[in-house]
Amino acid sequence: MVQSQSANDIPVITIDGPGGSGKGTVALRVAEHLGWHLLDSGALYRLVAVAAMDRAIAADDGPALGRLAAGLDVDFGVGPDGMVVQIDGQDVTARLRSEAVSAFSSQAAAFPEVRAALVKLQRACRKAPGLVADGRDMGTVIFPDARLKIFLTASAEARAERRHKQLKEKGESVNLSRLFQDIKKRDERDQSRAVSPLVAASDAHLIDSTEMSIDDVVQQVFELLKESNAAY
Ligand code: C5P
Repeated sequence: MVQSQSANDIPVITIDGPGGSGKGTVALRVAEHLGWHLLDSGALYRLVAVAAMDRAIAADDGPALGRLAAGLDVDFGVGPDGMVVQIDGQDVTARLRSEAVSAFSSQAAAFPEVRAALVKLQRACRKAPGLVADGRDMGTVIFPDARLKIFLTASAEARAERRHKQLKEKGESVNLSRLFQDIKKRDERDQSRAVSPLVAASDAHLIDSTEMSIDDVVQQVFELLKESNAAY
């Protein structure tokens, strides 16, 4: 008898945590190694921010941001330098990671209208052979039945230093103590919002990457995956 595979049978690994914890890089490495799909859910909130800024929608206008998120015409592609994202046919890739977009996206993400508009889009990424999803609420809200849940943290100081290095490499000069303050503010907003706050799922494995290299974290994720597979 041939058994059909429902979306819920497709394995998911979730990697949640604050900005700068390394979750994006770790998720990419794990997905590449397994040959699974990748969902960078933060990019969706960043897209809402970019589109809102272009349309002069304010960061505190929840209903307007929700409508915008629900009607977003987004296209993800791959270019010579990695992911290419377009909104309404316009390439916005280079703008996604700016500090202004980081701050706006964190404000927009606090509105239930915005979060609700993005749920279906995120769950639709669950495709065979598997999905690695990174964000803030992947293990708690979007994929509560994930096979393996990781909560990746690092001290705010370490995260600010990593971000500072990244921006310097891109030729942007940003003050380190200002970055540290921005990271603390974003953490506080992400952790204290009423809907889908940044919190570890009760069944998540905690990894503190403050003193670890990306290679060490990736290796630990694979060890945990091996253990969780054994339990199936
Ligand atoms: O992960 P990243 O820094 O790209 O996310 C940008 C912002 O989007 C975060 O500050 C957070 O407020 C929001 N976000 C969220 N839920 C997710 C992913 C990101 O609220 N699953």
